[in-house]
Amino acid sequence: MLTLYPDAFPGVLDTSIIGTAAKNGLWQLETVDIRDFAVNRHRTVDGPPAGGGAGLVLKPDISAKAIDSVVRPDGNSGDDRPLLYMTPRGKPLTQDRVKQLAAGPGLVCFCGRFEGLDERVIESRGMEEVSIGDFVLAGGEVAAQAMIEACVRLLPGVLGNSDSAAEESFETGLLEYPLYTKPRMFEGREIPAVLSSGDHGAVDRWRRAQMEEITKARRPDLWDAHLKRQGDSPSRSE
Ligand code: ADE
Repeated sequence: MLTLYPDAFPGVLDTSIIGTAAKNGLWQLETVDIRDFAVNRHRTVDGPPAGGGAGLVLKPDISAKAIDSVVRPDGNSGDDRPLLYMTPRGKPLTQDRVKQLAAGPGLVCFCGRFEGLDERVIESRGMEEVSIGDFVLAGGEVAAQAMIEACVRLLPGVLGNSDSAAEESFETGLLEYPLYTKPRMFEGREIPAVLSSGDHGAVDRWRRAQMEEITKARRPDLWDAHLKRQGDSPSRSE
């Protein structure tokens, strides 16, 4: 993890199943302070944008040195970890990409701050620009933690119940059905009767109908993709 704010790590990654998995040696994180590669007395890491405008840009020499302290620029070091750059300009992170990353050899992640990173470093180091959503954070640290949490929970041995990853949103392509637990009556609202019927078939059908309804209402994009997938595979018995 390359960052100007090493204190932000491990942050939330130290808690819950993700933190336990680190303690069990299932994954590990190394943090590099980009400012350690600053050259002047003031440890300056940024400069004004060429062409003018607001904000500051991370200096290419310092960013490149920080990156090269972790991954070799020639790509011949046997280190085939992807080099990711967290930025709202990036390609939106998906569960598919998360799965690929989790199945891979690990990753190197650069957290941007200020207005961003000099484009030449992104090009020369072959950085993969990743966004976690269409909103702007103050920096890449929280985005990196979100991405890592999503990856780590897919590593073998991290989730207690191995079924839980397969059933959830984005694995089925639909959003999840609503969940309830006792008491049966809460503030005048009852658990849907079908869930207490003992009829597993009826429960499955109800859940499926809920998933479809919720997905249609909230995420027409996912619903269209779902319909298209079904159209592409008419032999499926859904
Ligand atoms: N840095 C700032 N905003 C971001 C976002 N939405 N995704 C990834 N990195 C970011």
